[in-house]
Amino acid sequence: MLRLLFLGDVIGEPGRKAVIEMVPRLKQAWGIDFVVVNGENAAAGRGITGKITIDLLRAGVAVITSGDHIWDQKEVVSYIETEPRLLRPINYPPGTPGRGSIVLETAKGKVGVINVQGRTFMQPSLENPFRLVDEEVRRLRAETHVIFVDMHAETTSEKIAIGRFLDGKVSAVAGTHTHIQTADEQIFPGGTAFICDAGMCGPTESVLGREIQPIIQRFISSMPVNFPVAKGEVKLHGILVDIDPSTGKAKSIRRVAEPYVVEPDASAEADRAVPDVAAVGSDRVSLHRSQIVRDL
Ligand SMILES: [Fe+2]
Ligand SMILES: [Fe+2]
Repeated sequence: MLRLLFLGDVIGEPGRKAVIEMVPRLKQAWGIDFVVVNGENAAAGRGITGKITIDLLRAGVAVITSGDHIWDQKEVVSYIETEPRLLRPINYPPGTPGRGSIVLETAKGKVGVINVQGRTFMQPSLENPFRLVDEEVRRLRAETHVIFVDMHAETTSEKIAIGRFLDGKVSAVAGTHTHIQTADEQIFPGGTAFICDAGMCGPTESVLGREIQPIIQRFISSMPVNFPVAKGEVKLHGILVDIDPSTGKAKSIRRVAEPYVVEPDASAEADRAVPDVAAVGSDRVSLHRSQIVRDL
């Protein structure tokens, strides 16, 4: 079994600090083989830099996906050409810097990752995600059946539609962009794990990761306001998916909502259970670490 952790939009310094510290711990505690994070808000809430990309990769992240904020830090336009593990949505026009997919070799076989962006209520409006992702999945399946798709989109309908469209063709489809984790994790009949939105990695006392009052003020005044990244308690939101590497089909999906603990004591760390939400899969049981390790 190949265990994949996907974490949603990393928000600014609090989010990336939590991800950088927690990913190595979670990999060890949960037996994770492959980590993907969405980094589109990692630089002060806007885009990502080369340095942050390197910091995330060094922490054990295999691939960084993104979305509509990918170009917010101007340096990324040239940097993305040098780092194939940093993806931008695949449905940009031909000639756009960077790539929207990658296949990486792991100890348990090749893993493909595709980043695609929706069009409903999204700017800029990109090329048809269904057509583009279909082409890319066909191309990647020549190399591997283990494929993860980050669908960066606003509406639940567009995300579910692309999940259903890809059912049986990829291992998992997770939505990002809304920063709020949805409770609809499931495995479709063809074996594709799905969640409408993985949620964010950022401050919980916030509005989508930003300070609360400026956002309220913006809604009240309709005037331009700065939206600083919030402070305080941070949670990592995402999904943990077990995939059969021989078929590419998902066996279980669990939601992750893990508080960032600065310095856990050793005993607490040893007891860290995998997410206590029952796994959606063929064996619907509440799994704890000891059971998970046996399953591997
Ligand atoms: Fe985002
Ligand atoms: Fe976004």
